[in-house]
Amino acid sequence: MTSKDSDSVFQSYGRVCNKDRFFVDFYDHFMSSSDAIRAQFVDTDMKQQRHLLRNGIMQLVLHARGMPDTKLRALGKSHDRTGYNIKPEWYGLWLDALMRTLRKHDPEFSDELEASWRRAIEPGVRLIKEAY
Ligand code: HEM
Repeated sequence: MTSKDSDSVFQSYGRVCNKDRFFVDFYDHFMSSSDAIRAQFVDTDMKQQRHLLRNGIMQLVLHARGMPDTKLRALGKSHDRTGYNIKPEWYGLWLDALMRTLRKHDPEFSDELEASWRRAIEPGVRLIKEAY
């Protein structure tokens, strides 16, 4: 990951994070990836969840820019086997849903920008996943 990656990603997120539609589409994409994923959100208030995710992705983006990992550690804890019990193998689907949604909503999206996103947020996603 380079500082160019984290700058491009920061700007890309700025182009999409104020659209509620971005988060509606993210959860449509994510939940359609498997019945097991859909089942995790049956009792969830999705309006509230979209709002929380907006902040969660911002934490990943800020971590890529050098912010401390305190908030990501808390997400690792809430998602671990004693919490929501989110299986490590589901994070790949989460990332794929995010890339698909960025491609749809960011007019400047490209394969190169996708690679920057993946490089930039991979350490933060790994931290949450490995807390399992
Ligand atoms: C790195 C990727 C992820 C991020 C940044 C993220 C972010 C968040 C945030 C910010 C919350 C609300 C705060 C909290 O409860 O701690 C949350 C809750 C939740 N997340 Fe994630 N999440 C990620 C991956 C996943 C995955 C892969 C799943 C699998 C289905 C998942 C399922 C859930 C569930 C079930 C909740 C609780 C919903 C409820 O309150 O009913 N998350 N997530």
